Amino acid sequence: MVQFILNNQEVQPKLAVGTTILDFIRYHKHLKGTKIGCREGDCGACTVLVGELIEGDLRYQSMTSCLMPLENAHGKHIVSVEGINQNTLSPIQQAIVEEGGTQCGFCTIGFVMSLTGFAMNSETANSENAIAAIDGNICRCTGYKSLERAAARISEMKKGKPEAADFNWLVQEGFLPAYFKDIKARLEAFSAKDKITIGTKKIVGGGTDLYVQRPEEMAKTELHSFLNDAGLRTINEQNGHVYIGAAATAEDIRSNPLMQKIFPNLREHMKLVSSTPIRNMATIGGNFVNASPIGDMTIFFLALDATLLLTKDDNSRIVKLRHFYKAYKQLDLEADEHVEQLYFKTPPANALFNFEKVCKRTHLDIASVNSACLIFTKGDIITGAHLSAGGLAATPKYLAQTALFLAGKQINAEVLFAASQLIQTEVSPISDARGSAEYKRLLLRQLFYAHFLKLFPGKVSLASLTQAKNS
Ligand SMILES: Cc1cc2nc3c(=O)[nH]c(=O)nc-3n(C[C@H](O)[C@H](O)[C@H](O)COP(=O)(O)OP(=O)(O)OC[C@H]3O[C@@H](n4cnc5c(N)ncnc54)[C@H](O)[C@@H]3O)c2cc1C
Ligand code: FES
Ligand code: FES
Repeated sequence: MVQFILNNQEVQPKLAVGTTILDFIRYHKHLKGTKIGCREGDCGACTVLVGELIEGDLRYQSMTSCLMPLENAHGKHIVSVEGINQNTLSPIQQAIVEEGGTQCGFCTIGFVMSLTGFAMNSETANSENAIAAIDGNICRCTGYKSLERAAARISEMKKGKPEAADFNWLVQEGFLPAYFKDIKARLEAFSAKDKITIGTKKIVGGGTDLYVQRPEEMAKTELHSFLNDAGLRTINEQNGHVYIGAAATAEDIRSNPLMQKIFPNLREHMKLVSSTPIRNMATIGGNFVNASPIGDMTIFFLALDATLLLTKDDNSRIVKLRHFYKAYKQLDLEADEHVEQLYFKTPPANALFNFEKVCKRTHLDIASVNSACLIFTKGDIITGAHLSAGGLAATPKYLAQTALFLAGKQINAEVLFAASQLIQTEVSPISDARGSAEYKRLLLRQLFYAHFLKLFPGKVSLASLTQAKNS
């Protein structure tokens, strides 16, 4: 039986576990503050806050309730706008009103919830982070500047918040009603669901793919939540390898200190993946298994030449991520097998990593073409390379021949020009809504060059690459 706290009330919905939180809130609890916009995770009108105990701490994240099944709410605190409303406006609601950040009001609840999530979380208080917190919310009326001013005001208020997530401060300053102070103890009192075998149940990670592709079917499907399995969300390093559980979310990865240490630009790279509420739900296993040719995390980990641990009952086997994709949406994964874990060799000090993505808009958009690389060097020489690219073939692509070609070569414009020609023989893009085949080939070349311009600014320049092309 799924049980959780909705605002200030314990609930045990007697509904199919695939029912979305959005439908439960609006149609069964008659809380109409949460709005229905796109039902595809794009608009943010349905944003709620989800509180869960992680290693003994109560943490809240914004999520889109239209893509979240009841199953994923088990043992958590789901907060709709009614759960933060008080007799007077909260400082966030007040700032939005005073800055003119609301007109028709349809999007306003979503902005309030996302900014409340920002006030509660541990992101540094600055206006850039406050504005990033509303990257999953769309407004048709205001033109955003007023909402950005409101967000900047909230970041100023957050500067007074004590280091540790302090619910006393949030309650005292009027961000939250007083009942939030007891939520941790109330969640601790919930018994964990018995560990059950997956059987014929459909695995759900964050649901951000399943609920976009098959919402009606999912509402009636028996689900097994990987997101709720803390053991599948761990990230650690052992014997020179990094191990990541299949249910780690994009945000788990983005905010992980070990990953940040290994990949200094990780936070910037991961910002290019969807939006804050989607990153809070989207798992790495879901990214691999949905087999999108442009899956960002797939492209990222292909360039680390990662390996997957696949499990079926008590048996496990390993498969390289680069061999996991057999044809369009066809995987080396048996029907009752699942992805348990991913691992890759910790890159040595002489290795440099980069990720690039081009889409029609910078945030909350899927890639036209994306690419990642890991380059090992000794002096001027490339001693090894891994390269990946998405959007250019039926499957996410590990660019084996170009990687092999680069090994042993000097880093200079002539070598890169030759490699940029070879790379074109490894891909077979088709024209689609994200661009013509010709445009995608051009993007691939540009992204390949971008890796080297970023990683080796002293060794290659735009001018030298242009000269190599013309000579
Ligand atoms: C608004 C929006 C924006 C998006 N933007 C991006 C983007 O910028 N970049 C990007 O890459 N993706 C994007 N996505 C796609 C999606 O969020 C990601 O692919 C995400 O990682 C999917 O993970 P999930 O846990 O939500 O998958 P789910 O929907 O839960 O599952 C997807 C599939 O994988 C299966 N599955 C999940 N975990 C496992 C496992 N461990 N073993 C076996 N099978 C499993 C499920 O059964 C299902 O078939 C976006 C989605 C939305 C809605
Ligand atoms: S209704 Fe648009 S994100 Fe959920
Ligand atoms: S105020 Fe109308 S959509 Fe934002």
